[in-house]
Amino acid sequence: MSSVTVRVPAKVNVQLAVGPLRDDGYHDLVNVFHAVSIYDEVEAKESEAVKISVTGDSADQVPLDDGNLAIQAARALAKHAGRSYGVDLIIRKAIPVAGGMAGGSADAAGALVACNELWGLGLPTEDLMEIAADLGSDVPFALLGGTAVGTGRGEQLTPLETSGTFHWVFAVADGGLSTAKVYAECDRLRHATGEQVAWPQTDDALLDALATGNAPALGAALTNDLQAAALMLRPSLARTLDVGRGHGALGAIVSGSGPTCAFLAADAEHARDLAVALTSTEVCRTATPAEGPTPGAHAI
Ligand code: C5P
Repeated sequence: MSSVTVRVPAKVNVQLAVGPLRDDGYHDLVNVFHAVSIYDEVEAKESEAVKISVTGDSADQVPLDDGNLAIQAARALAKHAGRSYGVDLIIRKAIPVAGGMAGGSADAAGALVACNELWGLGLPTEDLMEIAADLGSDVPFALLGGTAVGTGRGEQLTPLETSGTFHWVFAVADGGLSTAKVYAECDRLRHATGEQVAWPQTDDALLDALATGNAPALGAALTNDLQAAALMLRPSLARTLDVGRGHGALGAIVSGSGPTCAFLAADAEHARDLAVALTSTEVCRTATPAEGPTPGAHAI
């Protein structure tokens, strides 16, 4: 096989409960991931050396050196196989860059699946999951997809059963936010207010809403402990959230570490109307309707 193309979904966190800061610099989480129908494509082509090119929205913001998580993924997989393989990675981006939707993690997951096939390694998903967890906290979920609870730093996954399809709109901001900086701001705010940080717990009402496909209940249960920090670093997001709420969003939340904002809609038509309202009021750069849950990284 001379070329393999893999499609990988973005994620939104429908619950992100951030526990205390650990000694290793990470936070213990309850992170309920939900994969949505905004996809990056990762094509892996035969090559002597490891190479990468990136096209699509904000492609110029993506590093093309060893700082790129997809390159790290290809190298980690080759190391796991005990060989020195080359690959030409061609990434077509639709997931916002540094947007809180795990776009970099998606590209790493895509590179793992594509290189596993291109190089004929035939490694089982469990092996890819282990390599993924070393690459980043969100990479295992990009392999798994669907809806899942992540514990630990988010990499220990338990899949969740859900009913039906949820309709979303994602309001993409100009420029990104650094995940590490948003976590650091969360710690700073907690320290400044003397907040007692509880051990993170899953929210039963949220799990029930997902299991029964109850969109109004899910909208009411959305929470993100990073939201206050993201709003502190990007105050304009408060207005973006307000505009979505004002147009009947069932729930409005910063996606992960932001700055993308996620709005839960009643149905596909409501999602399209919300997207128009968000773009016409100029509270975001673009607004994209999407559905969840969707499958994880898979060859097309
Ligand atoms: O795992 P990943 O490299 O994606 O994490 C990026 C940064 O986000 C980490 O360096 C850390 O600052 C922060 N983080 C955290 N706790 C987590 C996950 C990420 O503090 N559970």
